[in-house]
Amino acid sequence: MKILVGKNYDRVSEMTANIIATKVKEKPDAVLGLATGGTPKGVYKRLIAMYNDKKIDFSKVKTFNLDEYYGLSSNHPQSYAYYMKTNFFDYINIKEENAHIPDGLAQDIDEECHRYEQAIKDCGGIDLQLLGIGHNGHIGFNEPDDALHTSTHLVNLHEKTISANSRFFGKDEEVPRQAITMGIGSIFGADEIVLIASGEDKAEIIAKMINGQLSSKLPASMLQIHKSLTIIIDEPIQKHLYAEGVLKEQLKVV
Ligand code: GLP
Repeated sequence: MKILVGKNYDRVSEMTANIIATKVKEKPDAVLGLATGGTPKGVYKRLIAMYNDKKIDFSKVKTFNLDEYYGLSSNHPQSYAYYMKTNFFDYINIKEENAHIPDGLAQDIDEECHRYEQAIKDCGGIDLQLLGIGHNGHIGFNEPDDALHTSTHLVNLHEKTISANSRFFGKDEEVPRQAITMGIGSIFGADEIVLIASGEDKAEIIAKMINGQLSSKLPASMLQIHKSLTIIIDEPIQKHLYAEGVLKEQLKVV
């Protein structure tokens, strides 16, 4: 596990975009695992800027998103398919057929989950997986539980997650209660994982995530034993980790 510290959100985004761009340069047909939420927006902005400057080419890149709300169509403004289109895909030269997201309207959930897993395998697996983290330690929509799922599955969202997401929806009853998400095994299958977090409010969960214990009650903690995990945090998070003794020394801020 490697921890990198950026001065602020912009630096965290820039460092992450650089890692992704380097991967795509090394391997033009790279398979990227992508995340949604507020945190990765800055990464996508920077990748779009690099694309406009002709520094990166997505024509052969394949992507797999972590998750999608169950019951939302891809053109629902709060669906993750819509998020990806409007925050990233519409502005780069990725081929539509190469950008994969679970189908939130799938009739046969088991078949959809199986199809998604198979599609990842058929592409040779994920080269680089980008992750955010929920305040309760969820990754994708793998919520804290007594046990964790290995592969793509339908999940009941936790009350905390539903209320965190409710700010994006008009009425409470419109907030989806379920989602289709890659499992811990699907995420773990990635050759390389980059988890990003920014802001004081994520400091406590990052401290718990890296404190050395693994728990299904904190799904992100499982990542500690991944063969290639990089966590990119900002300075306020590093200060908290140092104050709590989770980091024995302060890392260089870049
Ligand atoms: C959602 C997504 C996660 C994301 C999380 C945190 O729950 N399913 O993949 O990491 O939100 O979002 P934010 O970056 O807005 O805190």
